[in-house]
Amino acid sequence: MCGIVGYLGNQEAFPLLIKGLKRLEYRGYDSAGIAVLSEDGNLKHHRRKGKVDDLLEHMSGSVPTGNLGIGHTRWATHGPPNDINAHPHLSGNGQLALIHNGIIENYNALKETLTNRGHAFYSDTDTEVLVHLIEEIMQKSQGLDLFEATRVALNEVIGAYAIAVIDTSNPNEMVLARKSSPLVIGIGDGEYFIASDATPIIEYTKNVVYLEDEEVARISLADGLKIRTASNHRVTPIVTELEMAIETIEKGGYEHFMLKEIHEQPRSIADCLRGRLRLGHESIRMAGIDDHKEMWTKANRLIIVACGTSWHAGLIAEYMFEDFARVPVEVEYASEFRYRNPVIGEGDILIAISQSGETADTLAAIRMAKEKGAHVFGICNVVGSSISRESHSGAYTHAGPEIGVASTKAFTAQLAVLALVAIRVGRLRQVLDEQRFNRLLVELNGIPEKVEALMSKEPELETIAEEFKGSTNALFLGRGYNFPVALEGALKLKEISYIHAEGYPAAEMKHGPIALIDENMPVFFVATQDAHYDKVVSNIQEVKARGGRIIAIVTAGDKEVANMAEFVIEVHKTDDALVPLLSTIPFQLLSYHMAVKLDRNVDQPRNLAKSVTVE
Ligand code: F6R
Repeated sequence: MCGIVGYLGNQEAFPLLIKGLKRLEYRGYDSAGIAVLSEDGNLKHHRRKGKVDDLLEHMSGSVPTGNLGIGHTRWATHGPPNDINAHPHLSGNGQLALIHNGIIENYNALKETLTNRGHAFYSDTDTEVLVHLIEEIMQKSQGLDLFEATRVALNEVIGAYAIAVIDTSNPNEMVLARKSSPLVIGIGDGEYFIASDATPIIEYTKNVVYLEDEEVARISLADGLKIRTASNHRVTPIVTELEMAIETIEKGGYEHFMLKEIHEQPRSIADCLRGRLRLGHESIRMAGIDDHKEMWTKANRLIIVACGTSWHAGLIAEYMFEDFARVPVEVEYASEFRYRNPVIGEGDILIAISQSGETADTLAAIRMAKEKGAHVFGICNVVGSSISRESHSGAYTHAGPEIGVASTKAFTAQLAVLALVAIRVGRLRQVLDEQRFNRLLVELNGIPEKVEALMSKEPELETIAEEFKGSTNALFLGRGYNFPVALEGALKLKEISYIHAEGYPAAEMKHGPIALIDENMPVFFVATQDAHYDKVVSNIQEVKARGGRIIAIVTAGDKEVANMAEFVIEVHKTDDALVPLLSTIPFQLLSYHMAVKLDRNVDQPRNLAKSVTVE
C-alpha cells in the first residue's frame, strides 16, 4: 500500500527512481511522483494521477538531474487520486520534499493548529501536514536539522508511517522513519537505496537494513547510516543479507505476473515442503514446532487470524487441525478480532497468516494477542517482514515474491505450510497414528506433481472463461475442505474480473442464494470424491432443477457429476485435506482468463493494492 523509493549516491537518481517505482507499482497505482535534488540545491518535483507511465508521459522526456531523489506510487487514503494529492509533498517554503506510506490519524488536529499558525495546504492528504510540521519545527527551533526536526515531529504524530524526506539545503542527505509501515535501506558502495520492500533494491545490493518501528534514520554521503529511536536512543544498524533472486521479480516471458505465479506453483509448493517433509525419515522438521513441542502438545486452543485470501487458508487449516490434532480452533478476521475483547489465555496459540507480513490488521491482532499472553506463530511469505519479526516463532512459506495483486502461489504455499504444521502437531498430540501420518506425508509429497498436471487444463478453462465472460454474477459452492475453496474462487473472480461472485457452503444455498439461480447464473461447484461427495451431488441436482449452469471440479474419472454438468475439470485424487491445494488452481486460471478476456488490468485491479498497511 503506497510504494516508496529513494536514492542517494553517485549515480543519477531519476532512472533508478522510475525503475524502482515500476517494481513497486503493485503496492498502489493511482498516482505517482518524484523529487530529485541536484548538487546545487535545485529541486525538480513532478507528480501525476495514474501509473508511473502516466507520470513519464507528463514529464515528456524531461530528465531531472541529481544524485538524491525520492519517488512514490500511491494508493489513496486521504483525498481522491489526482495530481495535487500525489506525493512527494512539499513544505510551505518548498525546502522539504516528503513521501509517506501509512496514515497520520491525528492529521486533522495538526492541520488545524498549523493552519492557525499561517500554514496553507493545497492537498487533502495527511502527508502534507507532516512535511509542514517538520518545516515548522526547523524554523521555530532555529538549529534543529532535518533529522532532529523529523524525530521531534514524529513524537507529535499518531498513526502509521514510512517516510523519506529531503532538504534542498543538503543534497547529500536523506531522512527516513518508520512506524507500522515497512522501510528497507539497501547499502551499496557509497550509495543507498531506499524502498518499501526489497524488490527495487535486489539488483543493486544484497545488504539491507530493515528499519524497526519508531526508528528515525539519517543517510549521509559524509557520515553513512545513523539510526536513533523516536525517543532519541542510539541504535546500531543490523545489516542482513537478502536471499531473493532477481528473476523472481520479473515476468519471465509471461504476459502477467499472475499467470507466471499460477504456473510457478508446482515449484513454490515443492520449495515450501523441501527440507521440512522428510519422506525417507518419515518425519516433518519445522523449527517453529520442534522448539516448542510441549506448548503445541498442551495447547488448549488455536486462534487463526488473517485477512482476505490468507483468511481462506486459515479456514481450511481449521478443518486440518480438527481432523489431525483434535484441538479446538477459531478462525478470525484480523480486523474484527483486534477490536473485540477476546478471551485469550495461557495455552492459546495464535497463528497469524500473511503473504506480505505487513497487513496492518493482522499485525495489530498479533500485538494484542502478545499483550494478553498468547504465543504467536507467524506464517509469512516475505522474509524479514513485520509479522515475521514480531511473532514468537513461525514458518516462512518460501513461495518467492508475489507481485500480482491477486494472491495465488502464496495461498497454496500457506496451505502447504499449514498442512505440515497440522500433521506434525497431530503426531505430537498422538492423534495421528504412524500409518496415517506416513500416508499423509506421501500424499503431500505428491502434490507438486498433481498441481503440474493441472496446468494442462488451461485451454479448457480458457474455453469456460469465453463462455461465461458475459455473466454479471456467479456462485461458487463447496463443502467441507472445499467450502473455503469456493470462497477463494469467488474472491479471485470478483477482484480481477469485477464480476460479482459469491462463495457459499453448498448446503447453505437453499437458505437464500438459491433465489438467484436461473439460466443465466453460472454455478461453480467443487464436487471432488470426498466425505461430502454425495451431498454435493444432491446440491448440484437442486441447481440443475432450477436451470442454473453447472461447472464442476471433479476427481479424475468421475462420471456422475460429468453427466449433470455443462463443463467439468478433473483433478487427481488425494487425501481430502489436501484437495484444496488442487481444487483452487482451476479457479485461479478461470479468473485469470476471464479478466484477460474482459480486458481488465490483471496484475493491478482497480482500487486494490498488494500490501494493506493501513486499517
Ligand atoms: C486477494 C488478496 C488479499 C490478501 C489480503 C491479506 O487475492 O491478495 O485478499 O490475501 O489482503 O494480505 P496478506 O496475506 O499479505 O496479509
